Amino acid sequence: MLRMRKKRLILLFGLIALAAFLTWRFVRPMNIFLVSEAFERPVDSTRIPAGLKGLGAEECGECHRDEYEEWSTSIHSQAWTDPYYQVDFVFDGSQQICLNCHIPLDRQQEHKVLGFRDTEKWHPILAPNPDFDAKLQHEGVTCSGCHVRNGTVLGAYGHENKDHPVETMEDSNIICVQCHVVQGERWDTFYRMPPCGTVAEIRAGSGKHSGRSGNLTVADLGELGCVECHMPDVKRPLVEGGKRRFARRHTWRGGHDPEMVKEALTINLEEQARPQPGKRRFVLTLTNSGADHFVPTGTPDRHLTVELRLLDDQGEVLEEERHTLKRTIMWRPFIVDLWDNRLARKESRRYALEFDSARETNAVAVEAVVRYHLLDEARRKRIDYNNEEPIAYDVFRKQLPLSAINPG
Ligand code: HEC
Ligand code: HEC
Ligand code: HEC
Ligand code: HEC
Ligand code: HEC
Repeated sequence: MLRMRKKRLILLFGLIALAAFLTWRFVRPMNIFLVSEAFERPVDSTRIPAGLKGLGAEECGECHRDEYEEWSTSIHSQAWTDPYYQVDFVFDGSQQICLNCHIPLDRQQEHKVLGFRDTEKWHPILAPNPDFDAKLQHEGVTCSGCHVRNGTVLGAYGHENKDHPVETMEDSNIICVQCHVVQGERWDTFYRMPPCGTVAEIRAGSGKHSGRSGNLTVADLGELGCVECHMPDVKRPLVEGGKRRFARRHTWRGGHDPEMVKEALTINLEEQARPQPGKRRFVLTLTNSGADHFVPTGTPDRHLTVELRLLDDQGEVLEEERHTLKRTIMWRPFIVDLWDNRLARKESRRYALEFDSARETNAVAVEAVVRYHLLDEARRKRIDYNNEEPIAYDVFRKQLPLSAINPG
C-alpha cells in the first residue's frame, strides 16, 4: 500500500516537472544555433593597415572604384539597414550575437564584448565602445569586415603595393564560411542540416563529407565554390591606371535578385501523353541546375511556391494545384527538422495537373506560376514588418493554350 503511494507520488512529481519544463520551453524561445568561435566576438579592428586613413568603404573606394560601386548595390552593404533585418532584430530581443555577422567589425558596434556570463556565450559582458563609428555601422558587411585582419589587407594574390600591406588567403572561400554557416548540434535539437547552412548543404551534396558542418580544411574550401558563383570573374585593373588583372565582381546576388534565382532553376511546362481517354495531363518540371546548395538556401524563411491551374476564357480558375518547396522546422518545445522538400543540387521535381477534358469544356489554357518568397506572409505579420519592397516575386509564369497544342 505504502509502496504504491510512493510510486504514484514519484510519477506525479515527474509529470509536474515535465509540464513545467515544456511550459518554460514554450514561453522562452530556444536558441536556434550554437555560438561558435568563428563569430562569438566581433572582428578586432584596432589596427588600421599602415598607409590607410580609415576603414570605411568610401575610403577603400577612393582607389578601388569598381569594387565599391558593386558592393554598394549588394545586400552585404545593407546587412544592417535592411528593414526586414531591423524589424527581426528588435523582435528577437536585439541580441548582441546578431551584430557579429551583420556588422562584423568591433568599431561598428556600440559596445565592446569583454567576456561572457554563460558557457553558451549568448550573454556577453558589455562595455561602451569609445571607438564606435556610427557611419561605419551603416555599412553592414563592409569591405574591412571581409578584408582587414590584424592590420593587414587579406587578398587573393598577395601583390606588394605602396598603399597598404597585403596578406594572401589560401582560399578566398574562407571568408564566406565565417558567416554563412552556423551549427545546431545539441541534445534537444534535431536538425538534419544546420540552420542557414549553405556551406553544409554543399558539403553534404558533394558526397565526400558526411552532412554536418565542422572544421573545414583548405581542400574542402576550394570545393565550396561560393566565390566562383557569387563573385563572377572579370579582367580589370584593381586601381585606376593599374595593371589589368583577373578580378571578381563584388555583387553577391541571391534571393533578392530574380535574375539570380532564375539562374538556379531550369523550368519546363509541357503536356504529356493522355493518361487515359478523355484525360489530359500537364507537367511542370523544376530542376536545381545552377546552385550547388539547396534552392532555396539560407534562412528557413525562404521558399518557393508552385501553382498549376486550369483557366477559362475570362481567366477564372477552374482547377488548381499548389505546392510549397520549403524547409519546415518545429521550434518548440524541441527543435525538430520536420521536413525539407527544397531542391538539392541537380535534383528535379515534377508537378502534374490532370483533368477531364469532357467535363472541363470551358477550359482554354493551363497556367503554371513559380514564385520565390523571401519570407511568408504569416511571419511578416507576426513580426509586424511593413515591407516596402515585395516579399515575393515570379520566377516563371507561362500559359499553354489548350486548343493550339492538342485539339479535342
Ligand atoms: C563579403 C566579403 C567581401 C566584401 C564585403 C568585400 N570584398 Fe573584396 N574580395 C572578397 C573576396 C572573397 C575577394 C577575392 C576573390 C578571388 O578569389 O579572386 C575579394 C577581392 C578584392 C580585391 C582584389 C581584386 C578583385 O576585385 O578580385 C579588391 C581590390 C577588393 N576585394 C576590394 C574590396 C573593396 C574596396 C570592398 C568594399 C567596397 C570589398 N572588397 C568588399 C570579399 C569581399
Ligand atoms: C590609396 C589607394 C588605396 C586605398 C585607399 C586602398 N587600396 Fe587596396 N590596393 C591599392 C593598390 C595600389 C593595390 C594593388 C593593385 C594591383 O596589384 O594591381 C591594392 C590591392 C588591394 C587588394 C588586392 C590584394 C592582393 O594582391 O591580393 C585588396 C583586397 C585591397 N586592395 C583591398 C582594400 C581595402 C579593403 C581597402 C580599404 C580598407 C583598400 N584596399 C584601400 C590601393 C589602395
Ligand atoms: C561578416 C559576415 C559575412 C561574410 C564574411 C559573408 N557574408 Fe554573405 N551575407 C551576410 C549577411 C548578414 C547577409 C544578409 C544580409 C541581409 O539580407 O540583411 C548576407 C547575404 C549574402 C547573400 C544573399 C543575397 C540576397 O539576395 O539575399 C549572398 C549570395 C552572400 N551573402 C554570399 C556571400 C559570399 C559568396 C561570401 C564570401 C565571399 C560572403 N557572403 C561572406 C554576411 C556575410
Ligand atoms: C554552382 C553555383 C553556386 C555555388 C557553388 C554557390 N552558390 Fe549560392 N546561389 C547560387 C544561385 C544560382 C543562387 C540563387 C538561388 C537561391 O537563392 O536559392 C544562390 C543563392 C545563394 C544565397 C541566397 C540565399 C538567400 O537567403 O537569399 C546565399 C546566401 C548563397 N547562395 C550563399 C552561398 C555560399 C555561402 C556558397 C558557398 C558555401 C554558395 N552560395 C555556393 C549559386 C551558387
Ligand atoms: C553566423 C552569422 C549570423 C548571425 C549570428 C546572424 N545572422 Fe542573420 N544572416 C546571416 C546571413 C549569412 C544571412 C543571409 C543568408 C541567409 O539567408 O542565410 C542572414 C540573413 C538574415 C535575415 C534575412 C534578411 C533578408 O534580407 O531577407 C534576417 C532577418 C536576419 N539574418 C536576422 C538575424 C537576427 C535577428 C540575428 C540574431 C538573432 C541574426 N540574423 C544572426 C548571418 C547571421
